[in-house]
Amino acid sequence: MTDWIQRWKDGKIGWHRDQVNSKLIEFIDCLQLNRGDTVFVPLCGKSADMIYLLEQGFKVIGVELSQLAIEQFFDENNLTYTACQLDRLTAYQGKNIALYCGDYFALDHSVLKSVSAVYDRAALIALPIDLRAKYVQHLYSIISKDCRVLLLTLNYPQSQMGGPPFAVNKDEVVSLFSKGFECQQLQCFNDIKNEPKFLRAGVEFIEKATYCLRKTGE
Ligand SMILES: C[S@@+](CC[C@H](N)C(=O)[O-])C[C@H]1O[C@@H](n2cnc3c(N)ncnc32)[C@H](O)[C@@H]1O
Repeated sequence: MTDWIQRWKDGKIGWHRDQVNSKLIEFIDCLQLNRGDTVFVPLCGKSADMIYLLEQGFKVIGVELSQLAIEQFFDENNLTYTACQLDRLTAYQGKNIALYCGDYFALDHSVLKSVSAVYDRAALIALPIDLRAKYVQHLYSIISKDCRVLLLTLNYPQSQMGGPPFAVNKDEVVSLFSKGFECQQLQCFNDIKNEPKFLRAGVEFIEKATYCLRKTGE
């Protein structure tokens, strides 16, 4: 089991990118957002993608285990915040952004009822297989009907390298979201030439896929 809090303390955050993810920019329209809408970013780290969402005029709600990650996010982006201890989470509130420090599974619908869309980059694929089904079931229970999800995944021969990030193929995505979601794969391509860590480990391919989902159930 990954000790995420320790990884943040040790600065072992190889997934973090200072640049905005190009797939968010390319596919954000599938979320059908209007200015002022709220986007939920699960397992948010200190992602620069949240700054992009704010710059587009959206509000952001994130959840992240590591207090260090949240404080770095606000400090590195020169954003001010107030912190408020809730029952099982601490809410860090900035202008148009609220980051909840604690366990994703402690979030409930009351916090996310205003959310129009979810942006998942390196959240589902950060979790081992047994937690992935739990993650999707919980997502279903905390977001509202018609909420859209932009999901980015990776797939590679898991036998050639261990996770995280874990390999999640299309069959698994379809199966995970089969109850209560519509699911459309928008793109999938092999990007092994741009993944030196995987190349060095002898991994044969790494497919990067983008999905747009919509919660159809109540
Ligand atoms: C691979 S990182 C991705 C971060 C971010 N989505 C990004 O794209 O940079 C996964 C993050 O999830 C956080 N995390 C892991 N399990 C969590 C949980 N149960 N609840 C909240 N955050 C969690 C970790 O601390 C880590 O920052």
